[in-house]
Amino acid sequence: MQRIAIFASGNGSNAVKIIEHFKGHSNMDVALILSNKSTAAIVEKAEALGVETLCFNRNDFYEDEVVVETLKQKSIDLIVLAGFLWLIPNTLIKAFENRILNIHPALLPKFGGKGMYGMNVHRAIIESGEKESGITIHLVNEEYDKGQILFQEKCSVESTDGAEDVAKKVQRLEHQHFANQIELYLMSLI
Ligand code: GRF
Repeated sequence: MQRIAIFASGNGSNAVKIIEHFKGHSNMDVALILSNKSTAAIVEKAEALGVETLCFNRNDFYEDEVVVETLKQKSIDLIVLAGFLWLIPNTLIKAFENRILNIHPALLPKFGGKGMYGMNVHRAIIESGEKESGITIHLVNEEYDKGQILFQEKCSVESTDGAEDVAKKVQRLEHQHFANQIELYLMSLI
């Protein structure tokens, strides 16, 4: 069994889609949900779906090796970031080289980097008059949103669209593609 761990700290709609996608899969499984926020909606949702959760603090993540050790101990093969905002420390990147995926709600390299998350991204798209946006699934390295791009899909931005409209279109694409792309990438590693 190939074991997936998902880091999520928000609503977790992507994480839930991914859990559902791999339920009953013959050789891939979401084994763990990790969050830096014990009150995040995803923690409760994951527990309701029968997936083990681990909440951690800054110290566990950046100073002690609690998180890396847990991932190793649970034989995790692939890490997926789905709405996780902290920069991934080098120790974790080295321990899981080319095995950490992120989804970004825009077409990188545009509209990426520190502070470019959630509605900030969609507002920036509207303010700059972009005609399209979309999603980017990429490998994670030491810098925010700079790892190798694996997949992108576009959506249009109409002149009548506001940031909320773009957010909805982008979320639709995320839910449509993220789990499939995770499966394809994991297959390419086996
Ligand atoms: C998504 O828009 C994703 O692109 C970004 O964080 C958001 C998470 O949304 N990295 P959700 O918590 O999965 O609903």
